[in-house]
Order: sequence, then structure tokens, then C-alpha cells
Amino acid sequence: MPSAELPGPEMNPLRLREVTVPNRVWMSPMAQYAAEPDGMPTDWHLAHYGPRAVGGVGLLMVESTAVGPLHRTTSADLGIWTEEQAIAHRRLTSFITRHGAVPAIQLLAAGRKGSHQVPWEGAGQNGSVGVADGGWDVIAPSAIPFGDLPVPREAGQADLDEVVAAFAKATRMSHLAGYRAVEIHASHGYLLHQFLSPLANHRTDEYGGSPRNRMRFPLRVARAVREAFPADKPVFVRITATDWIEGGITIEDAAEFAKELAAEGIDLLDVTSGVLVRDAEARPPAREGVNVGFASTLKEASGLAVAPVGQIGGLAMAGRIVGDGEADAVLMGRPLLRDPYLALRNRPTDKAAWPTRYHRAL
Ligand SMILES: Cc1cc2nc3c(=O)[nH]c(=O)nc-3n(C[C@H](O)[C@H](O)[C@H](O)COP(=O)(O)O)c2cc1C
Repeated sequence: MPSAELPGPEMNPLRLREVTVPNRVWMSPMAQYAAEPDGMPTDWHLAHYGPRAVGGVGLLMVESTAVGPLHRTTSADLGIWTEEQAIAHRRLTSFITRHGAVPAIQLLAAGRKGSHQVPWEGAGQNGSVGVADGGWDVIAPSAIPFGDLPVPREAGQADLDEVVAAFAKATRMSHLAGYRAVEIHASHGYLLHQFLSPLANHRTDEYGGSPRNRMRFPLRVARAVREAFPADKPVFVRITATDWIEGGITIEDAAEFAKELAAEGIDLLDVTSGVLVRDAEARPPAREGVNVGFASTLKEASGLAVAPVGQIGGLAMAGRIVGDGEADAVLMGRPLLRDPYLALRNRPTDKAAWPTRYHRAL
């Protein structure tokens, strides 16, 4: 093998509990809005995830998947709240596993960002779908809307108990489906992030007010998910490092949450930021590796493994981040949409890396 093709530190395996991920270049969860109206996966999902598994990505985080029908963002979201759905996901997990990658799944409750149009129809995420048109009513910590979406109903105790039970059941279904890691989506303005941020949570009960109270509900979910997943498989949390807006979550708040997650037995933080509110200024700034520094701060604060996401453009950068010890792995989103074989690009003639069936092209 020519020296130019020697893999860098991004290609070292990483062990989390009893799961060994073959390398540190991972696929970020990206909603495809390609599911059947009952949340079942379709051929699109196999056609989409398949090449990234064949293409050498170490862990594929299957897109945000709803823990219940009322917790979806759109009627085209994937779901994993029934056994039938879990069994349908096996086609994906077995293909991914057979090609050497680790199948993982992101579990979602949308909260006030629920029941809208798919991005390319009408007003997209800002276009509400009412109950009369096949949508559903949504809950949130407080009756504060996201952008132009309708005012959500403030969740009562029974709603919160239902969400916790739904996450636990979805976790059991994820195990049944063959996923080897689950990720709790606690960012990007969805339900658990809404509880964490003072901008979306104005509750006066034990779930609102102080930072400790705002963490209480996401931590209940974390505990339920950890208990529902086998002890040999890791649980990740996608965490918000900052809301990028005055009055929102800061990196200091995120560090406190990270420490509590460590105490709950969470294994890895997938570190992102922003998009709690619709304002343009709450978007992460367009700069390379925007969440890498936050990830290393959270790693130091909590002792957990971390994997930043956001504008990590290629293998050289991934190798630097992992090699310098800033993070344990990286997640890539859009770069892997553009190029499913990105993880193999610096080994263009390495027969051990490329699938046997493609060797005649090397
Ligand atoms: C098409 C698309 C769908 C996405 N869906 C999700 C999702 O399901 N869950 C999530 O946490 N983030 C989602 N994101 C955000 C990505 O996971 C990632 O955090 C973001 O694109 C920044 O990483 P990148 O610069 O590598 O693309 C989505 C992004 C894109 C482009």
C-alpha cells in the first residue's frame, strides 16, 4: 500500500461498552422524510444508508425516528414505536452490520416543532399541518410557539409520563431491530431541548425555573432509555452546546447537563448547537468545525466520549480532531450526502477497504 494511503487516526477503532466501532468517521442523523405514513421504512432508506455502510463509515446514525405517532415532525418521519416497525428496520440494520459498520438510531420527540410539512413542500418546517389535514396537536414545556407554527399545549404530568414510556419502548424496539447504539435527540429545538432552554421553558413546576429543574425531564428520559437498553450497548445524547442567542443555553449550562448525563450512564455526547428558535441569529456561525471546541470542553467537564458535528469537511480534518484528542469521533452530515464513499477517499486503491465486488475499478 503506498504511504499516501496509510489511514490516519480517524481510522482507529473505538470501543463503547461491548460495541467496537471500526473507525471514527461517522454519519450524522439526517431526516429523509421518506417513510410510509405509518412510520415504516421504505426502499429509499436502504438505498440511502446502504452505500455509506459499504463506503467505510464506522457508525451510521439513522435519522431522527419518532417514539410515537404524536411525536413526529411530519407524516413522512420514520417511527419505531411498534414491533412491526422494529422488524422492518432489520433490513437496514442487517445490511449495515454485514458491511462492517455499526447501526445506530436517533430517537425523537418533536414537541412544538411537530406536525409540519416536509421541507420541500409549501412552507416546509414553517408550514403547520392541522388536525383536519392529517396532522396532530403537539405538546411542549410551555405554550410558546416555534416561529409561525401554532401555539403548543403545555404538557401535563400524564403527557410527560407518556413521553418517558414512549422513549423506553422505542429503545426496546431499537434493540429488537438490531441497532447497536441509540441516541436521544436533546437538541435542534425538539422537545428535550425545549425543556432545557429558558427561552422555551417557562414552567413553574419542578421541570422549570432553575437549570437543575430544566434538566429534570431530559434526565428522566435518559434514565429510562439507559434502563431499557442492554448493558452491553452504548447510549448517546445529542446535546446543544449553546443556543447562540441571548438568554439561551450556554456552554456552562451544557457542561452541567453533561455531568448529569455521565451520572446516568450515558456513554457519548454528540455535540451540536443552535436552531432552538427561528431567528436567523440562532443558527450556528458558518465556520469549519464549529462545535469541535465545545465538544472538547464537554469531554473535559463530564469525562464522557464526545463526537462533534457541523462543518467537518473531510478526512484530514477528522484525523486532526481525533489525533489531537479533541474528540473521540466525528459526525459528518452533508459531506456524506455529497459523497457516500467519502470515508474511503484517501485509500483509492486499498483492496481491504473497498468492497470486493468493486476491486476491478481500483
Ligand atoms: C438533510 C438533513 C437532514 C437532517 N436531519 C437531522 C436529523 O434527523 N437529526 C438531527 O439531529 N440532525 C439532523 N440534521 C443536522 C445534521 O445531522 C448535522 O448536524 C448538520 O447537517 C451539520 O453537520 P454537517 O455540516 O456535517 O452537515 C439534518 C441535516 C440535513 C442536511
